[in-house]
Amino acid sequence: MAHGKLISFEGIDGAGKSTQLDHAARCLAARGLRMRVTREPGGTPLAEQLRALLLAEPMDAITETLLLFAARRDHVERVIRPALAAGEWVLCDRFFDATLAYQGGGRGVAEDWLSDLQLRVAGDLEPDLTLLFDAPEALAAARLRQSGAAADRFEREPEAFFGRVRSMYLARARAEQARVCVIDARAPADQVASQVEAAITRLFERSAASPSVSGGSGEER
Ligand code: TYD
Repeated sequence: MAHGKLISFEGIDGAGKSTQLDHAARCLAARGLRMRVTREPGGTPLAEQLRALLLAEPMDAITETLLLFAARRDHVERVIRPALAAGEWVLCDRFFDATLAYQGGGRGVAEDWLSDLQLRVAGDLEPDLTLLFDAPEALAAARLRQSGAAADRFEREPEAFFGRVRSMYLARARAEQARVCVIDARAPADQVASQVEAAITRLFERSAASPSVSGGSGEER
């Protein structure tokens, strides 16, 4: 049976991943692949409402974590799994690495607790490829300021918070080198785009050679 691929896009706020996600979507569309672009938190009507709360309302780290996982459950069940089962390539703006980086690294929520929740919420669903856009927190903060957009609750965190988030992302990349591709996001956008294209081409060629199934059913946990 056809089975799609899941690609997640990660990085600290201001690293430039959203621009590159658009670019990646164009690359895949040019190859004629059926594709879906989505995001976390969000991607379903319920999860988008949770996203609005998460980005605006003051809350503690545990409440934040539980709302993120509630949003993920709805998104995984209603969007990601059905799309993969239908053979679509799913481009997801953030997934579980963000939870380990922001709630684990940034807020200090215990990693084993996060991993346990992830298993219960998403089973063994894991991205086939994760593009980690890496930039120093000072550069990312400067880019956010230049964008002129109003800062949300996460973006208002101090640089030290993003330093911890970045360290956790890089630790994940070191631990899971086969899945996580670190993209040097300090470079100009066109050079970053070439790195993205190269990583997606590698996955495309691998999947053409062996169209493996990713992720289990995640039922009955
Ligand atoms: P983001 O992709 O930065 O949205 P935008 O580019 O529109 O600002 O995502 C929103 C925020 O959600 C981001 O600051 C990180 C946070 N987040 C977590 O803290 N944990 C998570 O598990 C996820 C998925 C996101």
